[in-house]
Amino acid sequence: MRKKVIAGNWKMNKLASECGEFISRIIKDIDTDEKDVIICPTFLSISSAVNATAGTSVGIGAQNMHYEEKGAYTGEVSAEMIKEAGCKYVIIGHSERRKYYAETDDSISLKIKKAYETGLIPIMCIGESLEERESGETFNVLENQLVNALKPIETDENLIVAYEPVWAIGTGKTATDEQAQEACCFVRNTLKEIVGEKSDKIRILYGGSVNEKNIKALMAMPDIDGALVGGASLKDEFIKLVNYDK
Ligand code: PGA
Repeated sequence: MRKKVIAGNWKMNKLASECGEFISRIIKDIDTDEKDVIICPTFLSISSAVNATAGTSVGIGAQNMHYEEKGAYTGEVSAEMIKEAGCKYVIIGHSERRKYYAETDDSISLKIKKAYETGLIPIMCIGESLEERESGETFNVLENQLVNALKPIETDENLIVAYEPVWAIGTGKTATDEQAQEACCFVRNTLKEIVGEKSDKIRILYGGSVNEKNIKALMAMPDIDGALVGGASLKDEFIKLVNYDK
């Protein structure tokens, strides 16, 4: 049985001064017994998030990292720095990073490799655009993103893959349960070709306009092991998302 994961991606939201108060308020109502709960704030809020979750099983993740250890990379943050700050996870290759910051499968591959070497668990994001879905390219896109990033490196079960159709992110348009299941099942079969039997243990999340109304049905799908939540993770609604099975 794969343990479920509910991860909140705060993107560029919340000041560090708001972060501790928000987490302290929601954390007492969150049920972490049978699942991994992860919060990914901005770099500047990591330390207050780590403090606010101390002594709980809620894990903190960063939203990006550089693949080099250190050096002349103005504005960047290394895996080691994230780890030292108290993170256990790091989101890699989010579609917003692919779109606005020219992230490629190659840089994503290097980042996943570095995250592993540093002892961070990568949350690798993949997903097709609306155009790609409408032209029947979804599976090709997903396969290329997975193969290009994971084939060149050693991958094990300590990987989380988030399937996030770009057209569903922040749009209020969730993929149907069947669309999400179909894609996540395809992701699992593709992972099997890349990493073999270990793929059975890799957790695959769905992301894209997940909310308190649609989460339960998504989580009931056999190949969906959790959710990567943007907008709804910024509000008290996150409690209901984490406790979807209560
Ligand atoms: P959303 O974002 O839940 O606001 O659609 C999801 C994501 O980008 O991870």
